[in-house]
Amino acid sequence: MKFVKFRNSLPVIALTAVLVMPMATIHAQRPSRPAPQHHAWDDKSMSPDQRADLVIKEMTLDEKIQLVHGTGWGALREGDPIPPRSNLGASYVLGIDRLGIPDINMADSAVGVRLAANQSRYATLLPSTLGAASSWDPHGAQLYGSVIGRELRAQGYNMSIGGGVDITREPRNGRNFEYAGEDPVLAGTMTGNLMKGLLAQQVMSDIKHYAFNDQETGRDILNANIAHKAARESDLLAFEISIGIAEPSGVMCAYNRVNGDYACENDWLLNQVLKKDFGFKGWVLSDWGGTHSTVKAALAGLDQEMPEDIYFGPALKDAVEKGQVPLSRVEEMDHRILRSMFAAGVIDNPPMPRSVVDPFKGLEDGQHIAEESIVLLKNSGNLLPLKTPGSIAIIGSHADKGVLSGGGSAQVDPPGGNVADPHPGGARWGETVYFPSSPMKYIQKHAPNAKVVFNPGTENASAAALAKSSAVAIVFVNQPMYESHDARTLSLPDNQDALVSAVAAANPHTIVVLETGGPVTMPWADQVAGILEAWFPGIGGGQAIANLLFGDVNPSAKLPVTFAKSDSQLAFPEVPGIDLKPVQIQVPTVMRGQRIMHNEMRLPPFDVDYNIQGAKVGYKWFESKQIQPLFWFGFGLSYTSYEYSGLKVGDNGQEVGFEVKNTGNSAGTEIAEVYAALPAAAGESYKRLVAFDRVELAPGESKTVTLKIDPKYVSVFNEQQNGWQLLPGDYKVLVGPSSTETPLTGGFHVQ
Ligand code: BGC
Repeated sequence: MKFVKFRNSLPVIALTAVLVMPMATIHAQRPSRPAPQHHAWDDKSMSPDQRADLVIKEMTLDEKIQLVHGTGWGALREGDPIPPRSNLGASYVLGIDRLGIPDINMADSAVGVRLAANQSRYATLLPSTLGAASSWDPHGAQLYGSVIGRELRAQGYNMSIGGGVDITREPRNGRNFEYAGEDPVLAGTMTGNLMKGLLAQQVMSDIKHYAFNDQETGRDILNANIAHKAARESDLLAFEISIGIAEPSGVMCAYNRVNGDYACENDWLLNQVLKKDFGFKGWVLSDWGGTHSTVKAALAGLDQEMPEDIYFGPALKDAVEKGQVPLSRVEEMDHRILRSMFAAGVIDNPPMPRSVVDPFKGLEDGQHIAEESIVLLKNSGNLLPLKTPGSIAIIGSHADKGVLSGGGSAQVDPPGGNVADPHPGGARWGETVYFPSSPMKYIQKHAPNAKVVFNPGTENASAAALAKSSAVAIVFVNQPMYESHDARTLSLPDNQDALVSAVAAANPHTIVVLETGGPVTMPWADQVAGILEAWFPGIGGGQAIANLLFGDVNPSAKLPVTFAKSDSQLAFPEVPGIDLKPVQIQVPTVMRGQRIMHNEMRLPPFDVDYNIQGAKVGYKWFESKQIQPLFWFGFGLSYTSYEYSGLKVGDNGQEVGFEVKNTGNSAGTEIAEVYAALPAAAGESYKRLVAFDRVELAPGESKTVTLKIDPKYVSVFNEQQNGWQLLPGDYKVLVGPSSTETPLTGGFHVQ
């Protein structure tokens, strides 16, 4: 059986062939929607909730059920039927023609719109969201969302599935590149703004994977155990912040279990926390194949089964008729879906499919985001920015041709195909895909008179020989990452550490450019002169890397994750479950239109004890354990220097003010970070990020920065009272350029 992708499958099954649809046939068959009629809910002066209720009054039970499930794997699985009006994305929900309710066409679009190539469409690959989080720029995040929203709309989709905000509990997680880092305030703010940008394009949005889908190993079976207090102060806070900023249409519940129950049938996660405490108004859709029951899931708060109708199709109708699930609960599911459709504008202003995407605008925006995302980690002797060297060796990672992208359901198809391994059709599941944005080409453009030579980096001796004969050596190293797979270690794969050491030994002017999904170790960090973390930089990556290397852009980004020195420094020195042996299990599915039990290889059930870390994720772990990592959260260099002074903390601690001055010779943007340490009664041996800002400064310029601190960010979650509590006592406020350099210290007192 060949799948483009099959959820929950181990890579051995998932690494399979691509589906090439006979598109012309499909489009030709696609029936058009009936002509619009007038309905009571057309009145736009009514609220989305009022309008949704009016629709529900007219719906039959079958229509009510029709809206709460997908129509199958469709374009994701070879041989599965494609509903006639499906836009060929990850899912399709049949609308209700007679009531003028449009279909829901969803596209995976974590870092750009997926599955475009087979339909001869273009989609912009943006930098990884982890990269974009390094910009600490909420406006940049909105721009990011607007690129995706614009292209989804142009391609005929009315819903994005992306918005990953699981925090980096597991730095080797294969999907960290789709998330926004280890800190809930940064990740929540960035993802919320991304969703806001997307919704502004009148496309529905979702955030995912709710919750604790913090590793891919055993994601469909593992049980994440965590106390409610720690959960609310860490991963769930990131979701809470995003939801508060954007009011997303959907929240995708995760595959894994949390404290015993699957996330998609977890009353605490869905009913109590998400819907009641966060006040989430949209709908909960399951991850693909992540629904496990009808009655339990429906009563626990799941609103839509994806992508099939095993549990929320005829079985749900039956459960309603038998009184096991109240009709009002199904109507609530419908209400949440319909009100989100009205709120986003996809009923009043449906997307017009197959208009042309503007690739140039996408490139410009993608490059801008990349330039804000690339972190300068080391710059000995101010080797950077490069000053027109006579010869430059470019080594490794196909840097002559392109930049690396992330795999899985976030994979975007490269225009013209994978430059490292060209083949017809879109990207294959599990393939390592390089996009056509050659760093070497743009480096040569910046240094037209330099001799720029490429070496693939496959033989250390020849790479070192080239480096030796060049004025500067730039080694590109990579860490390909994919959904459904974690890295076994933080070490770069394929002996790239040895390559860097060999090149560095041959040339003291060695600069390393990292293209990684997440943090990696760098045993050679002391041997090289410069280090740039470029993440997966997107279609404008080549240009952005060159612009930073040559100083056309002054680096401003700062790490959204801590880089450990070794795996042994992590809360889990090994990825939990990584050595378990897969077993065969049977999973219900609808394949080629038939309901069947399907055999899959999956890991046996296992527990992951997140109470080991609690809320101490990332820098909080390192601080409380007093471990020195390689690079701290919030760290990043610039080609200029900054000075902080004059901290003023408002009496109630809700506002801080301070000065930042550019003390160097080039214009730059400094990300100023504000941390707080809670009173001793909180029992926290770490500080928390509570506010941040990007401050643009000309040389010599000084600015006063005034920032609000949300009281929640300095509160503890009180389980007994089920609420946030500001403890009485003395709070410390620490301000500076990173989590480990906070030159300004102040405080406030809470009675
Ligand atoms: C992933 C989701 C994705 C869905 C549809 C799942 O395997 O976990 O993130 O949106 O598939 O492709």
